[in-house]
Amino acid sequence: MTAGRAGFAASVIRWQQAHGRHGLPWQGGQDPYPVWLSEVMLQQTQVSVVLDYFPRFLNRFPDVAALAQASDDEVMSLWSGLGYYSRARNLHRCAQQVMAVHAGQFPRTALELATLPGIGRSTAAAIAAFCYGERVAILDGNVKRVLTRWLGFGQDLALAASERELWAQAQSLLPATGAAQAMAGYTQGLMDLGATICLPRSPLCSLCPVCEKCSARSQGRTHDYPVKSRKLKRSAQSLWLLHAQAHDGSVWLEKRPVTGIWAGLYCLPAFDSREQLEAALPLRARGQLRDDPAFLHVLTHKDLYLHPVGATLKTASIPKRSGSWFDAGQWPALGLPAPIRRLLSA
Ligand code: ADE
Repeated sequence: MTAGRAGFAASVIRWQQAHGRHGLPWQGGQDPYPVWLSEVMLQQTQVSVVLDYFPRFLNRFPDVAALAQASDDEVMSLWSGLGYYSRARNLHRCAQQVMAVHAGQFPRTALELATLPGIGRSTAAAIAAFCYGERVAILDGNVKRVLTRWLGFGQDLALAASERELWAQAQSLLPATGAAQAMAGYTQGLMDLGATICLPRSPLCSLCPVCEKCSARSQGRTHDYPVKSRKLKRSAQSLWLLHAQAHDGSVWLEKRPVTGIWAGLYCLPAFDSREQLEAALPLRARGQLRDDPAFLHVLTHKDLYLHPVGATLKTASIPKRSGSWFDAGQWPALGLPAPIRRLLSA
């Protein structure tokens, strides 16, 4: 082990104490419930947004038992707007599994935590490091960038063998054995470095506590790490949204299937073409449709072009669809995709 490697963890910990994130509502405790909840929320969402959702969620579901007992609809509703809704479904299933299989107590090791729904290897490690001081490595997207740059790790992370090797490297950089109390600061420090200093495009190397021994920096090649050959392939899709309103202002919403876009959320009926949308309506309604301006909604893997079509219906229901009318006092409480909520609020 080189001197650089030996000092890596200590430098990260010292930097975290002075410059990292402190005083966040989920930090500092040993209770895995709020830590788990925050880690799942933070998986794909910025801290500033999570700061808004986390207290509301915790207030409504103060412990894992309360969350396990909630209805799907209520969980989805409180998650509404955070995106990546499979996280909310897994969160709910995880709470139920902790109650049913683990007698209401989260498991105490990263290995066992990773058997629960929605808890991957890195999230399990983060929970175990924060709550129990377990000496175990995290490796999320930000941390991969920090470590591949610092190590000059040029292997292709699209290959499973390279990914395994990077995990081994991450484990070898942990604070020394026996330093359980160092694990929380180190783990948070790596996350904070990745999120605030070791940025993808313009890393702030002059502020980095480990820049002296950073391989990518010394080569002038920060942009070349991490290496990943299989680039995310983006696709595009158009959807026509039937914005049907009854005369009393109620809107027709239906629950999305459990797989695919917006799985399990309530949504305006969505169609692959305007013809299909028309075909779902009674004949007499087809002549009075209103094409509202289309807009783009960007998902991780997909550009969605949304085409709202307004209709005012006299009929008691939309015959060819399963769904129901929700009045203005009801729909705001449903789990709705963010662009649909905006559309209904406009
Ligand atoms: N991303 C994932 N976990 C995080 C944490 N604990 N702090 C900041 N960003 C994170």
